Amino acid sequence: MKKKFAVIGYGGMGSWHVNHALKSDVIELAGIYDIDPAKAEKAKSNGIYAYSSLEELLNDKSVELVTIAIPNDVHLYTVVRCLEAGKNVICEKPVALSTPDLQKMIEASKKSGALFTVHQNRRWDVDYLAMQHLADTGEIGKPLRIESRIHGSRGIPSDWRGEREHGGGMILDWGIHLIDQLMLIYKNEVIDTINCTVTNITNKEVDDGFYLTITFKSGAVAFCEVGTYNFIALPRFYMKAEKGSALITDWREKTKVAKCKYWHENDVLPVQTAAGLTKTMAPRDSVTMDEYELEIQKSDVHDFYRNFCKAIDGEATQIVTHDQMLLDMKIMEYAFKSAELGQTVKFEY
Ligand SMILES: NC(=O)c1ccc[n+]([C@@H]2O[C@H](COP(=O)([O-])OP(=O)(O)OC[C@H]3O[C@@H](n4cnc5c(N)ncnc54)[C@H](O)[C@@H]3O)[C@@H](O)[C@H]2O)c1
Repeated sequence: MKKKFAVIGYGGMGSWHVNHALKSDVIELAGIYDIDPAKAEKAKSNGIYAYSSLEELLNDKSVELVTIAIPNDVHLYTVVRCLEAGKNVICEKPVALSTPDLQKMIEASKKSGALFTVHQNRRWDVDYLAMQHLADTGEIGKPLRIESRIHGSRGIPSDWRGEREHGGGMILDWGIHLIDQLMLIYKNEVIDTINCTVTNITNKEVDDGFYLTITFKSGAVAFCEVGTYNFIALPRFYMKAEKGSALITDWREKTKVAKCKYWHENDVLPVQTAAGLTKTMAPRDSVTMDEYELEIQKSDVHDFYRNFCKAIDGEATQIVTHDQMLLDMKIMEYAFKSAELGQTVKFEY
């Protein structure tokens, strides 16, 4: 039987969850609650029940599962209220603004026995899944460096995301997705240091972009960058691994893989550059390489809700765990610290 479900916040992402529920095989929409009466009216005009208060929603015994999609600074209060009322909770990312806040949420979940997770939906992005596949299969050996980029040219959205008091900024907005993905790819690595610099091109109050380098004790590196003032975008993903390289130029594209079969080459011909000859940039002899494309994997983001519903029934473990949420939060905190100090910081966890 489908689980009765309600959404708190009927804005951009709340509407996505509502539409998702309408197509779901595991959840059924009971209604929404939004603090803004205009949003409640909009829901009613779309044929959706709008609770008149959070209390009314929490007192609805038929609702087993709640998704919270409201600005980042009000997650803590709402998550804890819902958990205390015994509702199983999915909160939008970034789940919290600090580790102590996240710990309060986890405590509330443990105390009430209700489940609690965060909507890391970008674990279903096919570009990330291709990188994960390469790392898991070892097809081109162990990754030595992965670069993950999101580039756009419209600045930071001109809503609460541009304001510090609401938990704005791109580290919290997109950084959380990129960090979460990289830490799953490098799941067996231990972080040594973090270095982060932020940009403030179109917004002085919060970061409108950032460059984050996570260096692992093994020497491997995870780099991610979000840019909102890039009129030419750099590739979405680049992996340099022990036995080759992989590239995803755009999230719609297949992954290009170049696997090195033989390291040694005979008679490398130098190439001519304006200032002279060089062998460094000379193309490799094609017989030493295997070059191919990976098929785009199948991915269904509905699996997030399918898993969580199973977890509520005790038939599965939730995909996004509290330990992963805490690690991602710590990395963001160290990124802010590094940017503020203007130096690389040792990661302690
Ligand atoms: N996972 C993703 O891909 C993704 C994408 C976009 C946004 N998000 C996240 O979703 C959350 C919401 O973002 P959005 O883009 O939908 O914002 P939004 O501004 O479009 O919508 C937020 C809604 O919450 C309502 N609201 C504010 N405070 C409330 C409260 N205390 N109780 C009830 N309703 C309240 C507002 O009236 C508004 O309708 C954020 O945490 C954001 O980071 C996630």
